[in-house]
Amino acid sequence: MSERKKIAIVTGASSGMGRAFVQQIMDKYRRLDEIWVIARHLQKEMWQECFGTKIVLLPLDLLQEAQQKRLRCRLFAEDVRVKILVNAAGMGRIGTFEEITLPEHQQTTRLNDEALMTVTYLCLPYMEKGSHIIQMASASAFVPQPGFAVYAASKAYVLSFSRALRSEVRKKGITVTCVCPGPVDTAFFEGAEKYHKMPLFKKKSMADPKPVVEKAVYDAACGRALSIYGWSMKALFLACKILPHRLIIDLTAIFFKP
Ligand SMILES: NC(=O)c1ccc[n+]([C@@H]2O[C@H](COP(=O)([O-])OP(=O)(O)OC[C@H]3O[C@@H](n4cnc5c(N)ncnc54)[C@H](OP(=O)(O)O)[C@@H]3O)[C@@H](O)[C@H]2O)c1
Repeated sequence: MSERKKIAIVTGASSGMGRAFVQQIMDKYRRLDEIWVIARHLQKEMWQECFGTKIVLLPLDLLQEAQQKRLRCRLFAEDVRVKILVNAAGMGRIGTFEEITLPEHQQTTRLNDEALMTVTYLCLPYMEKGSHIIQMASASAFVPQPGFAVYAASKAYVLSFSRALRSEVRKKGITVTCVCPGPVDTAFFEGAEKYHKMPLFKKKSMADPKPVVEKAVYDAACGRALSIYGWSMKALFLACKILPHRLIIDLTAIFFKP
């Protein structure tokens, strides 16, 4: 009888942190048979340096239900063991609620929340003791953010969902780690800054994707619930626990002037 393949699945793998996750997983989990990478734009040439691990390209638009179905069928057909799932596909727009178009808001919540939840749902039956789920949220999940309202709300969903799911799947030996970075230097802002630039203080504190992802993979391996990179984001996390949210929201509004 042939052994079921052990795989990792990474969404949002074509750029930024998703791409860094693929590289980290390749380095740290050498016993995996395959890494399935998901995004809309995947070219074979991008993965030439991933020599040694079999990269399986799944060019899917996770906003399309029919394309989500293709993942379901592939999982069913191959009956794999999903050892690591990373949900890194995401988008956002900086600006007031009214100036951003409704389709953009809808895409943000559908990609950041609905697609993340759907991919998690599809993969869970193929996960087992020792499997890890890594969900990309953001430090904007800690408190509502004027000027980034829908994005912050979508990440609060990810944080809330991940913590509850973690409790549910603990008995199966599966861990869920929610990653909450501050600003990270990726292509994310090419879309996010369509209407407004991010505040200067955020730009100055941008992290490099590699250490953020390194920490996330380490925290997931340790079975931690949260992965927060850098002292400033840890301080923000703490501040959001002890200060009234109204005060933090008012302070954020001062920095975002449309
Ligand atoms: N950068 C930051 O400051 C920051 C901070 C905190 C949290 N985050 C979160 O971290 C995650 C990764 O962000 P990043 O900074 O690495 O951004 P990024 O470089 O823009 O990567 C986003 C990824 O999502 C994929 N994607 C977008 N729309 C998609 C769709 N409809 N279907 C499938 N894939 C789609 C993109 O690939 P294609 O375009 O090829 O589809 C890309 O691979 C996101 O969830 C983001 O919200 C980012």
